[in-house]
Amino acid sequence: MKLPRNFFKPLAIGAPAPYRELPVRLERMIHFVPPHLEKMRAKVPDIAAQVDVVLGNLEDAIPMDAKEAARAGFIEMAKAVDFGATGLWTRINCLNSPWVLDDIVQIVSSVGAKLDVIMLPKVDGPWDIHYLDQLLAQLEAKHAIGKPILIHAILETAEGVKNVEAIAAASPRMHGMSLGPADLAASRAMKTTRVGGGHPDYQVLADPDGDKPRTGFQQDLWHYTVGKMVDACTANGIKPFYGPFGDFADLAACESQFRNAFLQGCVGAWTLHPTQIDIAKRVFSPDPGEVAFALRILEAMPDGAGAVMIDGKMQDDATWKQAKVIVDLARIVAAKDPQMGKAYGL
Ligand code: GLV
Ligand code: MG
Repeated sequence: MKLPRNFFKPLAIGAPAPYRELPVRLERMIHFVPPHLEKMRAKVPDIAAQVDVVLGNLEDAIPMDAKEAARAGFIEMAKAVDFGATGLWTRINCLNSPWVLDDIVQIVSSVGAKLDVIMLPKVDGPWDIHYLDQLLAQLEAKHAIGKPILIHAILETAEGVKNVEAIAAASPRMHGMSLGPADLAASRAMKTTRVGGGHPDYQVLADPDGDKPRTGFQQDLWHYTVGKMVDACTANGIKPFYGPFGDFADLAACESQFRNAFLQGCVGAWTLHPTQIDIAKRVFSPDPGEVAFALRILEAMPDGAGAVMIDGKMQDDATWKQAKVIVDLARIVAAKDPQMGKAYGL
């Protein structure tokens, strides 16, 4: 464990100082683009105007014979497009792959100044973060990159889940974490073939009641892991996300999975298909009714202390803090989205 006074020192001479606090950014959806496909790259300027984050995917789902093309395509789109306030991320190949070193070196040396976050798959422990952290500092110094490139870990191995707290605390370069339910299911030998979402056989059965048929209630397979990830992230001042939802035809189930994650503390999710963008926008922006109620709590308790009754419900310091989380988020959404700002009355 590093000495506290060394934790925030740059890891290379000439690298930018690490952030003490994460930049305030709206990241309701991380939209995945396969950058080896020219047809998809052509859509990026339009997509960038609709989403909070555009991510060029280099890892799984990119065929082996297209890995170099995906990297080159990402560099091309990063250079060509003005992303404005929209975040630009890439998901690099995993650390034990033959492509990852070139992914990091070529991308940072050519478009490092435009890149906000590198998503690192299959993180098993803090050692994976330390490796990328050091390498990024060297490259930032070499290429005179003025702001630190952040690291976002995918939580998708059993070992990673076991080490989630150490991963979250590994470096001031940590941006956050996403649950990767597909790889995690495989790593844990869970008996599913789905990418996220529920499973009809994962149920709690109602108690017997005479001869009546017993109802089974489907449970959320990901509840434990999301809860563990949210605690590790928020305790360390970084952001938790739900990852992919693979059934593009089942919009209701996607919305339900995103909403569970939002209510548990996640700030966003991945969108792999354009139909998921509106779902993420709707779910990860606070509800106008909730915002109105939260504003009433803040108004009724200007110093955040004591207790008041609003509509028959007790409010105290703790509900004041919950209200502040909702109103702070609503203000960030309103700044990006004037229509939502109007709905919030902000
Ligand atoms: C994402 O990468 C997943 O494995 O679910
Ligand atoms: Mg994965």
